[in-house]
Amino acid sequence: MVAAETTAGRLGTGGSILVRPGGPLSGAVTLQGAKNSVLKLLAATTLAEGTTTLRNVPAISDVESMGDLLVAMGAEVGRPAEGTLVVRTPADLVPEAPYELVERMRASIVVLGPLVARYGQARVSLPGGDDFGSRPIDLHVRALEHLGASISLVHGVVEARAPRGGLRGAGIVLEFPSVGATENALMAAVLARGTTVIDNAAREPEIADLAAFLNRMGARIVGAGSSTIQVEGVEELSPVEHSLIPDRIEAATFLAAVGVNGGEITLLGARADHMDLVTHKLGQMGMRISPCSEGLWAYSSGKLRSVDISTLPYPGVATDYKPLLVAMLAVADGVGIVTENIFSSGRFRYVDELGRMGAQIRTEGHHAVIRGRERLQGAPVRAHDIRAGAALVVAGLRAEGETEVTEAHHIDRGYERFVDKLRGLGADVERK
Ligand code: UD1
Repeated sequence: MVAAETTAGRLGTGGSILVRPGGPLSGAVTLQGAKNSVLKLLAATTLAEGTTTLRNVPAISDVESMGDLLVAMGAEVGRPAEGTLVVRTPADLVPEAPYELVERMRASIVVLGPLVARYGQARVSLPGGDDFGSRPIDLHVRALEHLGASISLVHGVVEARAPRGGLRGAGIVLEFPSVGATENALMAAVLARGTTVIDNAAREPEIADLAAFLNRMGARIVGAGSSTIQVEGVEELSPVEHSLIPDRIEAATFLAAVGVNGGEITLLGARADHMDLVTHKLGQMGMRISPCSEGLWAYSSGKLRSVDISTLPYPGVATDYKPLLVAMLAVADGVGIVTENIFSSGRFRYVDELGRMGAQIRTEGHHAVIRGRERLQGAPVRAHDIRAGAALVVAGLRAEGETEVTEAHHIDRGYERFVDKLRGLGADVERK
């Protein structure tokens, strides 16, 4: 077993990505495992003593951050082979997530539910605001309170305590189908006494993956992937092996790249059924996309038509696709309106960066109006977050001259070998 520090620092810690326009993209690219799935599965390893093996794990810095958090709590984390992550959870994990680690990655809040369920108490630093508007955790807190936990905020730390005898099953109705709150409730309910029903649950494929993993560990969950999830609590879970679902956001990133650039690519391992609406929208924009035996095939002439798009909880168009779609609309024929319904309007910050490349985008509240143009102009631009960074690289493929996307470490949080994969398709990109 290798300690997690051996994985730390392996990935790029900054730098920038240079992009130049080129000929059509072509070839095949293998998708990584889903970032938004692996982080939750790692949190779920705290539920059972012993060794968990995860496969198809992407080499991204968010996985390192979650690994560091598990190590800080007393687990051992190793990568015995490419794509494989092994977590050894001791019987006596320290159920505390310190600020330095939570601050690095807000998704760490999903350890709260499993920790309080298994250890009867948990202390998790409250994540601060970030680059795209603050993300409250009131729905997480209320869901755990329904299961009997008492929760208080003490000097910036969320302290959760289970009643004597442990959490107990209950009916939980989420005010909004929050992904994180659904996951926290689910990971707490699996060890609660009796039956829990989570209504208005998030339906993302990553939630179904988490439930499949938990069921394999011995949990009794039905309905994950639908709005009503029912959980019969069990006394104990045991560690297992599990292979992650493919990353649909990474898949959409390569679709956007071929969309703006033109070309023909195959996304190996893609799950078309996880991407119905977004591929439908891309079809309306003029791309041809179809499932194939290896995953998903896509073709674009490089000429795109504008469409209007609204983000919604799954199965709606994911908010994470939005920067990519805006980059596509910036070079499409016509005017498109993009409406953000999940996060506060701050998630349009990358629009200013696209504006530096000549994109014609006006934002008003939750809306962005994008007037497409034939080409953008290369410029130095800054990645504010994972998807915004990827979208700027995509935009650079259709920009005259050179685009330099700085603060590329944001991209490393969620994309494994992004530059190598794009180069494999023939794109003129390099890491600086
Ligand atoms: C997850 C994804 C993120 C994606 C998002 C929405 C991970 C690691 N991240 O984030 O990539 O963009 O789902 O699909 O999986 N909210 C509250 N109170 C709460 C919780 C959430 O008001 O207690 C609000 C948030 O501020 C936001 C909305 O609900 O406006 C959606 O958030 P949520 O679904 O919880 O997203 P995350 O789980 O944080």
